[in-house]
Order: sequence, then C-alpha cells, then structure tokens
Amino acid sequence: MTAQSAIDYSTIVNNGIINSRVYNDERIFEDEIKKIFHEGWSFVAHESEVPKPGDYVRRSIGREPYLVVRNRDGEVNVISNKCTHRGTLLCQEEKGNVRGAITCWYHGWVFGLDGDLKSVPYGAGSRGLDHKCLPKATVGNYRGFIFATLNPNPINFRDYLGEGASLIDRAVECSPVGEIRLNAGWAKFLYKTNWKLQCENNIDGYHVNYVHASLARSIESRYNEAVLAGEDELKTTAVDWGNGHSELFLAAGFSSDLEWLGYSDKKPMKPFAIKYCDQLREAYGDNRASRIIHDGPPHALIFPNLFLAETNIVYYEVDQVGETVQRHTPMLLEGVSDEMNTRIIRLCEAALGPSSFFLPDDGVITERQQAAFEGVPMEIDLRRGMGRENKDGMGLMESHVTDEVTNRAFWSRYREVMTA
Ligand code: FES
Ligand SMILES: [Fe+2]
Repeated sequence: MTAQSAIDYSTIVNNGIINSRVYNDERIFEDEIKKIFHEGWSFVAHESEVPKPGDYVRRSIGREPYLVVRNRDGEVNVISNKCTHRGTLLCQEEKGNVRGAITCWYHGWVFGLDGDLKSVPYGAGSRGLDHKCLPKATVGNYRGFIFATLNPNPINFRDYLGEGASLIDRAVECSPVGEIRLNAGWAKFLYKTNWKLQCENNIDGYHVNYVHASLARSIESRYNEAVLAGEDELKTTAVDWGNGHSELFLAAGFSSDLEWLGYSDKKPMKPFAIKYCDQLREAYGDNRASRIIHDGPPHALIFPNLFLAETNIVYYEVDQVGETVQRHTPMLLEGVSDEMNTRIIRLCEAALGPSSFFLPDDGVITERQQAAFEGVPMEIDLRRGMGRENKDGMGLMESHVTDEVTNRAFWSRYREVMTA
C-alpha cells in the first residue's frame, strides 16, 4: 500500500476557478476539519447564551463535542464534552446548568467548570495515576461573540478577525447599549450540501434577483430593489473585508430609514420604531445614530462559519462532507422595547423560518449544486466582475453586488489556510 500524496490546494483553488472536488472529497473535508476548524478560529457561541455560572451550551469544534460554560468567576470556558476516563459524552442536553460541577454518567468522575478533574470514586485505585482534566479550547471573545480553536498557539485572535471586527461592531451597535442577546432559541436545519456551499450562497449577490424573485413579486420588501432593478440601477455593493470576511452592503440600496426593519416611504414607522431611533440618537449622537438607523446590521460572513445575517445570527456546524447543519436565531437587542425585539423575531421567521422564502429557496438551489458534483469533477467559475473591483475609501475591495468578489474573498483565505 502506498501513502496518498498531499492535495495541492493551489491548483484546486486558482484565481476564481474552483475544482468541485472541494465539495465532496472526503480527504479534503478531513484536511478542512484539521486546518480550518481545529487549528484555526471558528465561531462557537455568544456570551449571552450562558448568563449565569454553571450555564452551558453544547457546541462542536469541527466534529469534536465541546461545552461552552461559564465558571464561578464569570469567565466563559470552552471545554471538551468527552469524559477523559472512557469517553462518555458528559452533557446530553443542548443547554442547561450543571451547578458547580459536571459528573460523568458512567463511573462518576467529577469535573469542575474549568475542566479540572475534581474527584474520582473509589480513589485508592487511582492513586499515583495522572488522570486527565477535560481539554480546554483556546478562546477569543469579541463583544460577546465567542470563537474557539483546538490550537494552543493559534494566530492572534484579533489578527484573525482583522477588519471583520467592525462588521461585528455594526451588528452590536444596533443596540443603544451596545449589547445583543441570543436567547430566543436556535432553529436547526440540515442541508444535504457541503458547508462551503452555504457560505458561498450567503454572500452571493448574483442569485438574489433570480432565486428569490418570487419573494419580490409576492410582497413589498427591502429586497425589491435587489430583485427588480436592472444591472445599472443596483446600488448595493459586494465588499471583501480581508481574511476571508466579506459583505453584501445592502444599505447602499436603501432609500429610507429603518428599511432593514421593514419600513419604507410606503410603510411609516410605528411608535416603537420612532422610540428606537430616539434611543439610538441619545446613545450615539445624531451622526452615528443616523448611520445605524439607515444602514442597520450587516449582511456579512465571518470566515469560516459565522453569518451576520442582518437581524439574525447564523452559524454552521460541520460533520460530514455532504451535510451541514445551519443554526439560526434572531439577534435580539438589549436596551430596546419588547415590541422592537418582537419585530426582530417576526423578521427572523419571515426570512429563515421553515415556511419562509429565503431558506427553502437557497436550500433547494445549493442541494442541486451538490447533486451535480457527484459526477466528474468540474471547474466552478467564480470570476464574475474580476477587473471591475474598486478600492473603497477604507482601502477595501468592493464591486457591483452581482460580482463574485465576496466568494473570491472566501476562497482566497481558504487557499491561504489550506496551503499554510
Ligand atoms: S467514562 Fe466517565 S467516569 Fe468512566
Ligand atoms: Fe439566497
């Protein structure tokens, strides 16, 4: 038996042309688990999901089961959910509170909230043995967004976020007190596709006027401009924020305030929305508040698995090469009225719920792509708009919304990570 040679990612991802093997090759998927998810940073949870000591949520890093848990000092740890004795999964529920410690179901080993091994039943038999504590992931926290890696010496967390941090800022600043809350529960969807097809689709501005045309023709919404306008009339831009992070800057196409909340010249703001604008002005001053009121939260992908989906937060869990779990939840704002957050929940249902337009439309399309890749590998062409990108005022690469500059941003980072 001969060892298989390493995969050459510089030929698989090359200048806007992607070999479709990346979506269904088991070896590539295993490489991604190691290089992107185990050795690099990925999103795991938001701090608001574990408000009290002992609170935990079950998450995974790549395929490894982990717990995001708050300890008695208020710090959030990300610790393995596998008992170090014989591997039993420790916490079975999606979320809960373990009080002061985590006890294994099998032989009763007890672990602290930092993963330390506190006690072993019938301890005499363990005397002198170096039983292990629960492995702890390396954690980065930016404004409550918790990222983790199994790499004890990863690249600096803030270097990884780079300019993408300002995308998170723009989401969080929609709250007049600068805090969001993800406690409405996560909806879970299984796509029969590779995880990267979901990332690509989220930041693809080219399909909107075709795949989602039925939405625009059915109801008045902020997507009408994107769907019904001609190529020269579209003002929305696609932006490469560096490090694989990218955005469809929808606000460039908004013509009125709070359009992102569903208001327009034809649909005047309700009293709670007017109050919300006042709260923002009081908190941030007129200039900054005007920008937030007009622009709203971003539509952006933070490489590799966090999608800031306007008033929703979405992330992806990878498990198999051809299957991806998407979780989404409304991004609730602290410091606003209940009516405001109710509005955000309704928007979440309309955009991403099981009877919504976007999620089923995109699910069908991406599953059709995945099915096509089962045949002979083909070249995926993501070169649209190459050569007509501009540097914006901040030096970021931006282009027409239908240009694949956002997808090229993702793949450029992918190639860097996979060839490192
Ligand atoms: S497997 Fe956990 S205590 Fe034995
Ligand atoms: Fe879509």
